[in-house]
Amino acid sequence: MSSLEADLEELAGIGADDGGVSRFAWTPELQAANEWLLARLDELGLEAEVDPAGNVVGRWQTGEGKALLLGSHLDTVPRGGRYDGALGVCAALEAVRSLRYDGVEPNRPVWLVSFNDEEGTRFRTGMLGSRAFAGECELADWETRGVPEAMREAGFEFKRLGDASRLGEVGAYLELHIEQGPRLEREGIDLGIVTGIVGLLGFRVRFLGEANHAGTTPMELRRDALAGASRAVLALRDEARAREGMTANVGLIRIEAGGFNVIPGEAEFTIDVRSPTAEGFSRVEGFVHETLTNIAAEEGLDLDLAQTQRLDPVPLDPSLQDTLERAAAAEGASSIRLPSGAGHDAMVLGRHVPAGMLFVPSRGGVSHNPSEFTPPEQCELGTRVLARAVRDLVS
Ligand code: GLV
Ligand code: MN
Ligand code: MN
Repeated sequence: MSSLEADLEELAGIGADDGGVSRFAWTPELQAANEWLLARLDELGLEAEVDPAGNVVGRWQTGEGKALLLGSHLDTVPRGGRYDGALGVCAALEAVRSLRYDGVEPNRPVWLVSFNDEEGTRFRTGMLGSRAFAGECELADWETRGVPEAMREAGFEFKRLGDASRLGEVGAYLELHIEQGPRLEREGIDLGIVTGIVGLLGFRVRFLGEANHAGTTPMELRRDALAGASRAVLALRDEARAREGMTANVGLIRIEAGGFNVIPGEAEFTIDVRSPTAEGFSRVEGFVHETLTNIAAEEGLDLDLAQTQRLDPVPLDPSLQDTLERAAAAEGASSIRLPSGAGHDAMVLGRHVPAGMLFVPSRGGVSHNPSEFTPPEQCELGTRVLARAVRDLVS
C-alpha cells in the first residue's frame, strides 16, 4: 500500500460513521483528524499549529518571499465520503514529502493547510476557516449561528478569529480534489484543470400557514405550508433544468406540527442554488425571491426568507492552469479544463491570490456519499502531477 493510500485509510477511520465519515467543525472527530495531521507535519519537520480559526497550518519556512500554500479540508458532510477534502490534504503531504526526500530546497516557503469547516455542515455556512484565514471574518453572522459556543466548548475563543488571518504571507494556493461529478470518468480523462468555481447562494426559508384538521378543512381553505414548500422545490428544479450550469437543491426540511392528520402549519427548508457565471448568478438571486413571494401569496402563507450564504463565482488563475496542464502532460496524464460545480476553499483564496485546482475522477460522479471512490492509481497520478507543479513553482 502506498503512503497516500495508507494516509487515506487512516483518516477514513477517524469519525467513521456507518460506512461513511462524519467530522464536523470543532468536534472531537475533527480534532482527532487534526491531531493526526499535526503528527504527519511534525514528521516532515514543518512548524505546525492549529490556528485561532481551527485551521491546521504547517509551515516550511525556507527561501524568500511569500509562501506557496497547498491543502484542502478534513471536515465532511454528514456521512460523507473518504476523499472529499481528505485527498487534497494527503496529496499536499505527499508533495511536501517528495520535496523533502529528494532534498529539494524550495526558493520560497511552502505551507500546508487543512481548512476548518469547509462544508459548513454545523453552522450551515461554509468555508469559515478559509474566510478567517483570508481575513474575511463575518463575525456578526457567525455569532448568530452558535459559532462562539461551539468554539468555547472546543477551547477556542471567538474573539480571536481575526488572528487567523495570514493571507499577507501567502503568494499562491493549490488544491487537489475529487471532481465530484461525472465528466472525467465519462470522457475517460485522467485529470481536470479547474477554470473557475461556481457561485453559491444559500437561503433559509420559512413558510407560515395554519395547522388545522386534515379531514374537516375544505381543500380551498387550507394554508398548507408543506404544499408551498413542495411547489418551491419543483419551481427551483424546473428553473435550474432550463438554465445552463445552474443547480438548485432543497436539502433540509422540517414541518410543524407534523401529525398525519394535521395540516402542516409551518415549513422550514434550505435552498442551495449555484450558477457558474456572474450573469446567471444575479438572475438566480432574483428568481428565488420572486418565486417564493409568488408561491406564498398564492398559497396564503407568510414568508420569512433569509440569505445564509453568498459566494460569488471565482475564476482560477490562468497561469496556474498552464502550470498544472504542463505538469499533467509531463506525467503522461490526459487533461481537460473544466469548471467546478462544487464550492471549495480555493474560491475564497482565489479572491486574493492566484489559486489553482486539479481534479481526479469520481467513480459514477458520486460525492457527499459514503460510496465516493477514486481508484488509488488515479489518486496517485493526481498527486504526482500536483507534486510536479509544486516543484515547478518553487524552483
Ligand atoms: C462543498 O462540498 C459544496 O460544494 O457544498
Ligand atoms: Mn464537500
Ligand atoms: Mn471538498
